[in-house]
Amino acid sequence: MSISIAYVGCGYMAQRVHLPNICDLSDRCHLAAIAETRPHLREQVCNSFTVSKRYAHHSEIAEDDSIDAVAISGHFAMQGEIAADMLRAGKHVFVEKPLGISAAQCEAIIAAEQASRKTLMVGYMKRYDAGNHLLRKTLRDWRASGDYGLPTFMRNHGFCGTWDAAVDRPFITSEEAPPEIPTALPFPSWLPESHHGSYLDYIQQYTHNVNLMRWLLDADDDWEVLHTHLDDHGCGGVALLRIGGIRASLESGSLAYHAWDEHTQIYFEGGWLKTDAPPLLLRNVSATVEYYDGREGHRGSGSLIPDNSWTWSYREEMRAFLDMIEHGTKPESSASDTLQDMRMLEAIYRDHCRRIGVEVTA
Ligand SMILES: NC(=O)c1ccc[n+]([C@@H]2O[C@H](COP(=O)([O-])OP(=O)(O)OC[C@H]3O[C@@H](n4cnc5c(N)ncnc54)[C@H](O)[C@@H]3O)[C@@H](O)[C@H]2O)c1
Repeated sequence: MSISIAYVGCGYMAQRVHLPNICDLSDRCHLAAIAETRPHLREQVCNSFTVSKRYAHHSEIAEDDSIDAVAISGHFAMQGEIAADMLRAGKHVFVEKPLGISAAQCEAIIAAEQASRKTLMVGYMKRYDAGNHLLRKTLRDWRASGDYGLPTFMRNHGFCGTWDAAVDRPFITSEEAPPEIPTALPFPSWLPESHHGSYLDYIQQYTHNVNLMRWLLDADDDWEVLHTHLDDHGCGGVALLRIGGIRASLESGSLAYHAWDEHTQIYFEGGWLKTDAPPLLLRNVSATVEYYDGREGHRGSGSLIPDNSWTWSYREEMRAFLDMIEHGTKPESSASDTLQDMRMLEAIYRDHCRRIGVEVTA
């Protein structure tokens, strides 16, 4: 039976990534409806993807019993609230990251998921990248065998660059006003208003990085923020962490780079493993995986190639959403898991505020 999917919000991520992926997976699902508050944009995108059911607001989907599941990409502080509404309406939900902008907001959304008996998956596509999967498996193998000694350090470097890879898919823009958002967004209660902007810049980007680091090390809630040193803009710098018992650094910053400047390296006593992320919208190219073997008698380096290397993380992410609906499998990027990312990002930022002498409330 083909899964009937409604999509909420047909802006950039919808048109560039998720709507094409849903359509490309037509052997398993179909795009049954689109909800978009901006009428001209809605009409044009629905025409472009040949969708006949057109809703002016996500709440109208709740009344449509023919819809099995909903995918959402909206305002970063509000899309989790839309997700909660859709769970309450009895739909399985995929929502873009971040789930919310504070741990308290995420907890309330997760409570709606638990009450609904439906499943909420969050868009952390790096967890569906074939290269990242191979890195994680190899890391587990190295740890289990003990052949390379103990893991000693993890380094994640994220200086961004060009993420759209010059995709040539048509993109429909609109001058229409987006829906109003509340003036008081659900920021962490301790965060002074003067730092709302820089906090958002930091969490929007680096939620991906902490999410990946915890997953690679199977760390779940085993993490600690040791020290943070960010610049005056509150976005570039270093966070020193302990994740899954291993010291780790998260390097944030920016670079005018023609591609995507992000890599993750895990050091052992006898070697290292490293992955380089592709520009995010580059289709069918997964992260690269390299290794260095420093053991006496084995010295060498090389690349590891995943069997399914010609895959796109976002497409695999949508496949995982369908698996979740069809087979009840728990997604790699569940809502309850991402609560740890939000808590860690809050802890990093709290440490940053303290270091620069900004008073934070309890
Ligand atoms: N995973 C990634 O790599 C990645 C990359 C970029 C952005 N994102 C996330 O994707 C999200 C969306 O980003 P975007 O650039 O596509 O945004 P966008 O502003 O281009 O599109 C959002 C659309 O949602 C519509 N909308 C909002 N509320 C609605 C409602 N209640 N009912 C119907 N329509 C509604 C808006 O009118 C708008 O057209 C952001 O939260 C961002 O964090 C993720």
